[in-house]
Amino acid sequence: MLDAGGQYCHLIARKVRDLGVYAEVRPSETAAGELAGAKGIVISGGPASVYDPESPTADPAIFTTGQGVLGICYGHHLMAHLLDGTVTRGDKGEFGLATLDLDQAGDPLFGGLAGRQQIWMSHRDMVAAPPAGFTVTGRTDTCAVAAMADSARKLYGLQFHPEVVHTVRGREYLRNFVFGVCGCVRDWEPRGRVPMLESEIRDAVGSRSVFFFVSGGVDSSVAYTLCQRALGASRVRGVYVDTGLMRKGETDFALRLGVAVHQAGEQFLSALAGVTEPERKRHIIGEEFVRVQEAIIDARQIFEENWILGQGTIYPDTIESGGTAKAAVIKTHHNRVAGIRKLIESGRIVEPLKSFYKDEVREVGRELGLPAELLERHPFPGPGLAIRCLCAESDGALAATADGLVIPVHSVGVQGDSRSYAPVLAIDAPDHERATTLINRLSQVNRVIAAAATRIPLAQMWVRASSLTPERIERLRRADSIVRRLSHASGYDATVWQFPVILIPLGSGAAPDSVVLRPVDSVDGMTARSVAMPPELLNTICEELMAIPEIAGVFYDLTHKPPATIEWE
Ligand code: XMP
Repeated sequence: MLDAGGQYCHLIARKVRDLGVYAEVRPSETAAGELAGAKGIVISGGPASVYDPESPTADPAIFTTGQGVLGICYGHHLMAHLLDGTVTRGDKGEFGLATLDLDQAGDPLFGGLAGRQQIWMSHRDMVAAPPAGFTVTGRTDTCAVAAMADSARKLYGLQFHPEVVHTVRGREYLRNFVFGVCGCVRDWEPRGRVPMLESEIRDAVGSRSVFFFVSGGVDSSVAYTLCQRALGASRVRGVYVDTGLMRKGETDFALRLGVAVHQAGEQFLSALAGVTEPERKRHIIGEEFVRVQEAIIDARQIFEENWILGQGTIYPDTIESGGTAKAAVIKTHHNRVAGIRKLIESGRIVEPLKSFYKDEVREVGRELGLPAELLERHPFPGPGLAIRCLCAESDGALAATADGLVIPVHSVGVQGDSRSYAPVLAIDAPDHERATTLINRLSQVNRVIAAAATRIPLAQMWVRASSLTPERIERLRRADSIVRRLSHASGYDATVWQFPVILIPLGSGAAPDSVVLRPVDSVDGMTARSVAMPPELLNTICEELMAIPEIAGVFYDLTHKPPATIEWE
């Protein structure tokens, strides 16, 4: 797997391993000679354009060795570029679902499939003309060379992402490449994961003990339990920090794991007072975590050399913070800020799940015998409600456009593999198809939401300068607990992967804030689809939320990831 900086590079590697074939990630520039032992090569996507001065490249000799080569997205552009095809620059790009028309039945990559296939796109540049020797094997309405092949040389290029679940038959395309084109045999079976992880933990920890911050979520609970199993309960201590940014009932949940509770709400909230910028919030929270950790370690007289920090970091946390060689920083996750990085550099950290995805972590948890009630919990971000309580630097008016009202509340997105920070478009009906069309057409917004209930017409609302105050956090906590209760009672929560509830400073007068509902379907958090809500549930949620006097409206986020991330910050 040649890493050209795409956030999906490791995802491809894992998908190949899932097929039972060993795969590893190397920098894209790795010399062909060093790849001689590989049966096949995949060049990943990435945020660059082949025309950027410092953009990743590959050794052109890899195209002449007879090994199968598959270029995905940026890898597809690079293959075309290095072999003298034509790549054109796109300004707007295309993000989300698209339909692939296969016009070459019998192409080995598509295993003889023909006709229309659902795929997932995320790109700006495009191949306009394939290199000599290639034929175009698939196209979409907006992309003339969505798939190209030179079967004689075993070279294949795909504009779309076969590695994400929303490319419905993507796994088959990868399987065809790995077994059919490259002739790989099954040689990789990650059997007995728990014993393997336990021995890794013992190696990493040595004779020291592990100090764990447990959040009550799946990842840290599984990591904590693994460490206890590996080292014995007496060498593992767990503390749950109540940051004041947790959801209702979380502390009780954590207590059931048998860890100590440390109250630090005031410390976090005062450090965050007046801060509005999302990355600053994340950094402050991360640094505050380190401070709390140090204070706890001091208070408990845990000496540096005898203790090491345990964390439930999982794979997407490291990738999206730029953990791979070139992946762009989408969001800095709280467990990858400077203070924690220092601990990592000095070898004082153990993160047994750092190469696992959420679904794999749940599997490990099942192997450990942890209860389903814990393992099926929706993910909840470490920085907590702080990154779901949006702030605004200054007051702002809504702007009317032909497509809807643009709300000057900025949220984080991921477009073309890099971070975007842009306003939100409100449309009048929860129409996912229209939202996808709009988001592909409009470059100035990265989310589309629909109003589900408002106290006054949306056009009369405005965005108010606001920061993180205890009142707003409490307002969000209350809204979140209503949504969770109703969604659980209706059984809806079991059908979605995650259901964030966000507070935005949009309203008027005595009702200064609004609530956004963000139910999404995902497998690993790397990509996600905004999903439909039963109208009855939406109505009940709106009724209860609108009974909170300070809430001006309830909105429904219709944007997939990409281009919007799951969380709003
Ligand atoms: P995004 O918003 O990047 O989220 O699409 C992907 C998944 O990661 C979770 N998330 C976090 N988890 N610390 C965490 O432990 C963080 O800082 C963080 N940020 C996002 C998010 O809830 C979703 O499941």
